[in-house]
Amino acid sequence: MESSAEFKKLLSACQEAKDRAYCPYSNFRVGCALITERGEMFTGCNVENASYGLTICAERTVITKAVSEGHRKFKAIAVGTDIPDSFAGPCGACRQFILEFGECEIFFVKPDLTYMKFPFEQLLPMGFGPKTLDTNQNS
Ligand code: THU
Repeated sequence: MESSAEFKKLLSACQEAKDRAYCPYSNFRVGCALITERGEMFTGCNVENASYGLTICAERTVITKAVSEGHRKFKAIAVGTDIPDSFAGPCGACRQFILEFGECEIFFVKPDLTYMKFPFEQLLPMGFGPKTLDTNQNS
C-alpha cells in the first residue's frame, strides 16, 4: 500500500480536502480521504454549525459519503490537519465510526505529507462494534 501511487494520492487528497473545511468557529481544518477495497477514492472535511454540537468531523463526512454511494469496505483512511509538527488522531466518535466498517489501514498526515501509520487494533480497545451485537444471546 505505502509504495503505491494510490497511497501517494491518498496522502495529498486528505490534505487538499482541508481546503473545503467549513470551520468558521474553530478554524481547525481537517481533511480526510479513503480508498475503498475496489480502489475508489472519497474525500471529506469537517462541517461545523452555529449550533456547535451538530458539527460533523471530516472522518464521519468521508465515511458517510462512501457508504451512501454503496461502498462499505475500505482499504485505507487518511486524516490530515494543519498541525506542522505533530500528528492528530481522530476523536472518539470518529473512531467508533471507523470501527463499524472493519479492518482498514489508518494514517495521520501532516501538511508536508509526512505521515504515521496507526494500528487498527489501537483505534478503540475493547470497542463496541457489529460483532459485539452478534454475541447477544437475546437476539
Ligand atoms: N474534527 C474533525 O474533523 N475530526 C476529528 O477527529 C476531531 C475534530 C473537527 C471538528 C471541529 O470542526 C474541529 O475539528 C475542532 O474540533
